Amino acid sequence: MASATNPTTRLVVLVSGNGSNLQAIIDACADGSIPGRVAAVVSDNADAFGLQRAVRAGVPSVHVGRRDGESRNDYDARLADVVAGFAPDVIVLAGWMRILTADFLGWFPARVINLHPALPGELPGTRAIERAWQEAMAGERTVSGVMVHLVPDEGVDDGPVLASADVPIRPDDTLETFEQRVHDTEHRVLVDTIRTLCEQPTRAKMNNAGAPT
Ligand code: GRF
Repeated sequence: MASATNPTTRLVVLVSGNGSNLQAIIDACADGSIPGRVAAVVSDNADAFGLQRAVRAGVPSVHVGRRDGESRNDYDARLADVVAGFAPDVIVLAGWMRILTADFLGWFPARVINLHPALPGELPGTRAIERAWQEAMAGERTVSGVMVHLVPDEGVDDGPVLASADVPIRPDDTLETFEQRVHDTEHRVLVDTIRTLCEQPTRAKMNNAGAPT
């Protein structure tokens, strides 16, 4: 495995909020379970706790806020400039709450991955954990999950799936206990997926996933 490992894999993590998934990535890089490093953390939200986590870890952090009247496309082009400056091999959307346009994605073909707290094809958009919980309370589901996928375009929580895992909703769950289990599963699946990407040449891994070359 060591021979296939690229220890210089550069991760840029985009966050909008708490950053518990960012923390899992930082910790996994520090303890060697991800053979790469977080080159930078970028947020659209100046108050994102994820930015503080980056500072505490000694990782460069940048706030790129949308300016008054700025179009999505212009914002995304400016964001792409900032992110490109960190020469990322893989860009991780970990609680990033904006839909990215081709003005960003076009600069990083098959390099952007997203984490979604639901199974492939299910509950796209915000509040997926709460919506899964509500469906369970209505007797409409007993399982939800998490997934990590490539982000080829503006499709919301949609794209070639790299990994997924079920999270059962137990009869004695509260929203809080279910949510905690979803987050624990996210941390594990996201770290495992990034490790796999780091252990293989990025291009080859993305091709295996069926993304355009
Ligand atoms: C996660 O549930 C992620 O799947 C969703 O937003 C949440 C971010 O959590 N997109 P955190 O900021 O990593 O704690």
